[in-house]
Amino acid sequence: MKNEMLSEKKLPPGEGLIDFAFPDETLPMLLEKFHRHGDIYKLNSTRSDAWTYVVSHPDLLRHVLSTNYRNYRKGVGIEVVNILLGRGLMVSEGDLWKRQRKMIQPMFHRSVLERFTALMSRCSRKVISAWQEKQRTGEVIDITEEMSQVTLNFILYALFSEDLDRLIEQQGNNPFSIVAEESARNLQFARRFRALSGLVKDMVAARQSEERRPFDLLSMMIDARDKQTGEPMPEKQLIDEVLTAVVAGHETTASALNWTWYMISQHPEVGERLQQEAAGVLGGREPTAADINHLSYTRQVIEESMRLYPPGWLLTRRALGEDEIGGYYVPPGTDLFISPYIVHRHPQFWEDPERFRPERFVPEEAAERPQGAYLAFSMGPRNCIGEAMAMQEMIIHISMVSQQLRLALIPDQPVEIEAKVNLRPKHHLYMKPEALHR
Ligand code: HEM
Repeated sequence: MKNEMLSEKKLPPGEGLIDFAFPDETLPMLLEKFHRHGDIYKLNSTRSDAWTYVVSHPDLLRHVLSTNYRNYRKGVGIEVVNILLGRGLMVSEGDLWKRQRKMIQPMFHRSVLERFTALMSRCSRKVISAWQEKQRTGEVIDITEEMSQVTLNFILYALFSEDLDRLIEQQGNNPFSIVAEESARNLQFARRFRALSGLVKDMVAARQSEERRPFDLLSMMIDARDKQTGEPMPEKQLIDEVLTAVVAGHETTASALNWTWYMISQHPEVGERLQQEAAGVLGGREPTAADINHLSYTRQVIEESMRLYPPGWLLTRRALGEDEIGGYYVPPGTDLFISPYIVHRHPQFWEDPERFRPERFVPEEAAERPQGAYLAFSMGPRNCIGEAMAMQEMIIHISMVSQQLRLALIPDQPVEIEAKVNLRPKHHLYMKPEALHR
């Protein structure tokens, strides 16, 4: 049957052109064509002779991302990420990726994440104090900027701990703050960003010569060994992995929190339930690792926000050899687009998809959906390595703020999405911290 299908070389429906510069119209166009053509359709590209297939059904996505993942490499857009992140985990392929994934995986183990709880709380505590002051004086906060700062702070301290303080002291500022300050991800940014390599190199050298290993990701990366060869990561590889963690761990989490606060501001009853849960579980104290599992409504709110606004709105793959997806022929070199933004609105798996309803993620309801219907962190062997860390960080942040303050959206400001590398707010969002009605 399969060979027959391949020899027929039946192609999926669809026509039109995809511009890889991703102008504003791209995402609405992809969504509109999904409603017209369904689970798999094709487009021509402006840049190559190969077809681009847009795939949106969980069964087909399990095939591409799990069962037959070896037939695919990272696709369109990866060149840009490549310039930024060298051969780090996000972009590496084949044996190099496999080796690095094995060496890095233990850094995201539950026992390690537990030890990061205090740091996560500390980062949120800092912004809460500042917001409480603003609540008293009636000032407005730029929530987009604040979320960028709080998540950058966390990942930098998680990576460098005491060395970050030293660096800030030596330089008089934080050289890594360009990541939050500059939103463009162009060549110019890449050059400035890569210049940070030297700083990481110096930190590694200092730790080696002083035999100093504070508890942080950098120490774990220095001490990681390839199980087969017993070798550490080559220095250049280590630097690429550190810079990968900075970028991958910061912008996505910032965007998810930004949209979560936006959704909460639009649903006051959700804000109240969050406040109740935080009061019940935490009773005024800061979360411990053991609390995370009990903050289940907080988790559901974050998951539902990422359903409607998945920071990684587009996953791209390129077929190495030929394949068959959903009965259609996939020639080698075909570009695949998988858009969590679209999959998360698939009417077969999400009733009334535009509606914000955190209860969709109550375990009994979530269990009814097939794997692949929710892809905020992707799935399969190349899923997000930082998923548990990001979820824990976000749960701690939302619950800590919820037991102290409410954030009200300032009316009459434009709220639009920008779908470039990540799904970001096109304009910063402004909110007013308010006291809770207890
Ligand atoms: C809300 C926060 C986050 C979201 C929504 C997110 C989403 C994703 C997605 C969708 C992928 C798959 C990309 C693809 O297949 O093209 C991915 C991969 C990855 N993420 Fe995350 N991520 C988040 C946080 C983090 C954090 C905190 C870290 C690390 C500190 C991280 C590190 C990575 C890495 C290294 C990969 C590549 C994994 C591999 O290919 O083996 N992410 N992430």
